[in-house]
Parts: sequence; structure tokens; C-alpha cells
Amino acid sequence: MPDLPPYDVADLDLAPAGAARVEWADRSMPVLAAIRERFARERPLAGHVIAACLHVTTETANLMRTLVAGGAEVTLTASNPLSTQDATAAALVAEYGISTYAVRGESNDVYYKHIDAALDTRPTITMDDGCDLVNRLHAQRPEQVLNVVAGTEETTTGVIRLRAMEAAGALRFPIVAVNDTPTKHLFDNRYGTGQSTLDGIIRATNILIAGKTVVVAGYGYCGRGVASRAKGLGADVVVTEVDPIRALEATMEGYRVMPMAKAVEQGDVFITVTGNTSILREEHFERMRDGAIVANSGHFDVEIDTRALEKLSTGRREVRPNAEQFQLRDGRRIVLLAEGRLVNLGAAEGHPAAVMDMSFADQCLAVEWLAQNAAELEPRVYEVPIELDAQVARLKLASMGREIDTLTPEQTHYLSSFDQGT
Ligand code: NAD
Ligand code: ADE
Repeated sequence: MPDLPPYDVADLDLAPAGAARVEWADRSMPVLAAIRERFARERPLAGHVIAACLHVTTETANLMRTLVAGGAEVTLTASNPLSTQDATAAALVAEYGISTYAVRGESNDVYYKHIDAALDTRPTITMDDGCDLVNRLHAQRPEQVLNVVAGTEETTTGVIRLRAMEAAGALRFPIVAVNDTPTKHLFDNRYGTGQSTLDGIIRATNILIAGKTVVVAGYGYCGRGVASRAKGLGADVVVTEVDPIRALEATMEGYRVMPMAKAVEQGDVFITVTGNTSILREEHFERMRDGAIVANSGHFDVEIDTRALEKLSTGRREVRPNAEQFQLRDGRRIVLLAEGRLVNLGAAEGHPAAVMDMSFADQCLAVEWLAQNAAELEPRVYEVPIELDAQVARLKLASMGREIDTLTPEQTHYLSSFDQGT
């Protein structure tokens, strides 16, 4: 084997199988591939050291290849202990020469050791999914923060944490909220989470969704996708919400909206996607039906109170891979999927490559923009510049063979005037 970069992965022998899957995913990522080709010519990231904390999947591997093509020195660490694809991690190291720290099922302790290894490279740019890397950098290495010119954040929960850091005056370098740009959350959060969450639940249980009552907690971008895919498979969908506008939207979309306290008595499958904590807790487990299945697709494993579930149980056992049955004192059983971690990444493969194509194209263009503009930015949370978003949408449409209209001069004039009326 040629010289390998520093790494900690489960098994390097998995590398050839991992590379085959990375290349398969690449076929569905034409926008990222076009950016990779341009990056290889222009090397816009030359001189930068990137520490990336992302789910280690085939799609992420193609993002890492693109950043390397752009001239960056890159280290990847997992953004969740359960989302790593071990074969992909092995391929990143042995086939693509990219320093990677990720082992599926690693303990929280190892998870943070891996983040520390990425931070040891003294990054100039951070790329985070959930803000664990940026948080650890600020909390434990204040002197090293000066080295970082900027960063990006992939997900809703990470952006919420960053905005809280900004509000508290704690954020020390600019970060682009990739999640908040339309070509990310309108597609990844909705269609990606929608499909892959149902995929994870089906792979873990092999249940028939048709005819089941599926309770979706949270009708945000992810919740809309999950509810629509469950409905498409024939489920009777119940939505729980705290936001009256979103609850109204769910109602008009045809879902039954009610508080969780009522939904618990009706649901066969519960899916949390709120980004909030303690959505399913003791008072809910106490009243669920026998055999209820509970799964989470929100970023952290705090949405389902697994400690409360343990407390109510006399025992637990794995009934299938990624499905654990809790035996309650009163004889009922509750089945928890993927340990309450993101079920789409823990029990399936995360979002399909075709949707990550846009999210990761956004990441690349945001990083390129930061490499050019970071010096003029303040330590704040920034939006992706809208022209970059439009560029990604145009490239994606072209790759799908879709054409759109352009405004005529008359229409452009009309839209900027106020004199023509009835
Ligand atoms: P969002 O802010 O658009 O939606 C969250 C919704 O949950 C909001 O409508 C909010 O009102 C609602 N909510 C909050 N507390 C609630 C409660 N107690 N009960 C019911 N509803 C409640 O966020 P989003 O973009 O949909 O993301 C949701 C979560 O999913 C975040 O943690 C995000 O990071 C994560 N995420 C996961 C994946 C994945 O691959 N699984 C992908 C993208 C985002
Ligand atoms: N988040 C959701 N799906 C993902 C994927 N396939 N790769 C990386 N991050 C993801």
C-alpha cells in the first residue's frame, strides 16, 4: 500500500468496496463533479487547511475529493458516532489519500478524540455539521481560533447553535450557514430527509407503511418531507407542532394535527424531526400502544428520551439490526431504532447522492467565496450569497436536461415599473 495519511478507520481492507460505492454516488453528483473539474484547474483553496466534521458517507467522500482538487489540505472526522460508512472511511484513506477519523459505533469519547485529531491539523477553514467541531475549538483551544479565517455549517441545529454563539458574543470567526440557502434546505432537508428517513425505518423493521398511523413531530423542512413520503406510502399521518403557522400548513395539507399527548395513543410509528429536546418522554412512553416504533431524524439523539425508556423497562434486546425492543413493566413493548440517533444515517445511507449534489456544491462554492472574502467579514453567521445559490440551481437543472424561460425586455421593464394597472 502507498504511504497513507494519518487516520483511524475500522478496516482498510474495505477500501475497494468503499471506492466502488463512492464512484457510484459520483454518477449522481454532476454539479459537484463540474466544480471539481474547475477546482482542479483553478486551485482556489491552495494554502488552506480544512477540518471537516461531516457524516462519513459516499457523498461526503466526493465532497472531500473536490476540496482536495481545489488545492486544500483536508482532514475529515465523523459528525455522528453512528453515521459512518466504514467502507467509505477506508476508501477515503487508502484510495483517495484523505486523512479520515471515523469508525461506525465509536464511543462519545472516541468521537471527540477524532475531532481533536482534526483540530490538531490547525485548520484555516472549518466545515461542520451540527457545530461540534466549532464548539470544541472555541471551548478548548481559544488560542487556535486565531488561525481560522472562516467556516461553514451544514445543518439547521448547527446554525441554531452558531446564532446562539453569535448572540452571546462568543463566535470568533465568520461562518456561512449553508443550511439556510434554498438549494440546500428546500431539497436536502425535505426530499432527502423525507426519503431516507422512511428508508431507514423500512430497512430496520421491514414493516408495511400502508395502513399504519405515522406520527411526525415537527413540520419544518424535514418534517414536511417525512410526512409527505409517509403519506405517499399509504400511512395515516399525524403531525405534532408548536408553531401555529406550520400546524395550520400541515392541517391544510391534509394531515391530522394534534398534541403529542393525544397522538401517543394512536401512533404505530413515531418520527421526531424537531431539532428540539425531549419530544418523546416518560409521560408519552407510558401511554403508547404495544409494539410502537420510535425513531428520530433530528440532528442530535435528544429528541427521544432513551433514559426514560430504560427507566420504564425491565429489559431490552436487539430484535433486528438497528432495532432494539424495550420490555415495559406492564408488558407493553416499544421498539427504538438506531439508538435514537438519525435513523436515516444510522439505519440507511443518508440522503441519496442526487440531493447531496446540491448541498455539497453549496459547500464548495461557500468555501471558495470565504477563501476570497474572509478578510472583509466579521465574526458572524452569514448567508450563502444568492448568486452562488442560483449558480447551483442552474447547474442542477442543466444536468437534468431541463430548460427554463428568460424574461423578455418588456417583462423586465414591467416588473420594475408601477405605472401600468387596470
Ligand atoms: P425546522 O426549524 O425547519 O423545523 C423544525 C420544526 O420543529 C419547527 O417547525 C418547530 O416549530 C418544530 N418544533 C420545535 N419544537 C417542537 C415540539 N416540542 N413539538 C413539535 N414540534 C416542534 O428544522 P429542519 O430543517 O426541519 O430540521 C429539523 C432537525 O433535523 C434539525 O435537528 C436538523 O439539524 C436536522 N436535519 C437532519 C437531517 C438528516 O439527515 N436526518 C437533514 C437535515 C436536517
Ligand atoms: N446528511 C444526510 N444525508 C447525508 C449524506 N448522504 N451524506 C452526508 N451528509 C448527509
